[in-house]
Parts: sequence; structure tokens; C-alpha cells
Amino acid sequence: MTSQLTPIQLVQGDITQQTTDAIVNAANCRLSGGGGVDGAIHRFGGPTIKQETQRHYPQGCQTGSAVITTAGHLSTKYVIHAVGPIWTDGYHCEPELLRSAYRTSLVLATTHDCQSIAFPAISTGAYGYPLQPAAHIALETYLNFKIRNDAPLSIRFVLYNIGILKTFETALAQCT
Ligand code: APR
Repeated sequence: MTSQLTPIQLVQGDITQQTTDAIVNAANCRLSGGGGVDGAIHRFGGPTIKQETQRHYPQGCQTGSAVITTAGHLSTKYVIHAVGPIWTDGYHCEPELLRSAYRTSLVLATTHDCQSIAFPAISTGAYGYPLQPAAHIALETYLNFKIRNDAPLSIRFVLYNIGILKTFETALAQCT
């Protein structure tokens, strides 16, 4: 199940098709499912994922946090359901909450012995977070996490279209 990934991989694709140890869902506070990444994960993963969130996290998940379930029919061990912020104007703690959603997901992956994880661009769809700052936060959070943690966790960002991929490539070049 573990993929041999370079430290940060940027690919265009569909998060549901990844074979990393964990994939990350762009979920909502109620863990109630929805469209975008969330809809695709529940559609391909089957009903057991929702059953598990309802059983283990009936109270949902706070914005900026994440919870973990198994992955149903998906080719991964775990789904980490991360709740990013809804963008309003950037002055409502959106950067801190987005950073926290990524960081909590990374911590959950390492505490479950994952060696590889795939993320979508959390909050950049229905939640309206501007892509450029969201890409910087995603990449910097991972790089900071790696500095502070010895865990051998490789990361892949799975970006849905070429425009999002290019934005992440530019942001990565500026980070490193
Ligand atoms: N694989 C990878 N990326 C995808 C996929 C997919 N299958 N589908 C959509 N995306 C991209 C979008 O283009 C966007 O860049 O993922 C990013 C996040 O978009 P959303 O899924 O809309 O997530 P988000 O912005 O965090 O909004 C969360 O949407 O459906 C709901 O229940 C979900 O209420 C929550 C909200």
C-alpha cells in the first residue's frame, strides 16, 4: 500500500484514485457529505465511510480539525476528513484554520503509521479560498511539519485541473 514518493509530489488527478496510505477529504463540520472531493470519496468509497463517521464522530468535526476513518472500497487504508475554513475576507482566521486542518491531518496520518498521504487543495472549491494563498499554506505546513517530525511521511497533492497544478508548482518553487 505504501507508495515510494518523493518528499512532495504535485500531480493533476482525482483524489479517489490514489493508493497512498491515507487520502484527505475536504469535508464539512457536520461530516454530512456533499459535492466536490467529499461527494467523490463517499461515492467511490461506499456507505461504510459515512456509517463510520456517524458512529465515531456524531458531533461532527470543528473547522480547522480532522478525523480519521477506514476507506471502504477505496485503494487506501484511511480517509482523513479535514474541515477547512469557508473564505470570507481573510480576516476571520482563515489562514490559521486552513493551516490547522492540514497540520491535524498530518498528525493523524503519522499516529496511524501512514508513510504516504494524498491531499486535495482543501477549501479552494465550494469554500472559496483563493488558490494562491491556499497553495502556499498547504506546502508550508507540510514543510514545517517535516522539519519538526522525523516520521517518514511522503505527501502528494492531487490537483483537479492544470490551473490548480500550475499554481501549486509556482508556490512550491517559491517555498524551496
Ligand atoms: N480530486 C481532487 N480534487 C478535486 C476533486 C477530486 N475528485 N473534486 C474536486 N476537487 C478540487 C476542487 O477543484 C478544489 O480545488 O478540490 C478542491 C476542493 O474543493 P471542494 O471539494 O469543493 O472542497 P472545499 O472547497 O474544501 O469545500 C468543502 O464542499 O461538498 C462540500 O461537503 C463539502 O461542504 C464541504 C465543502
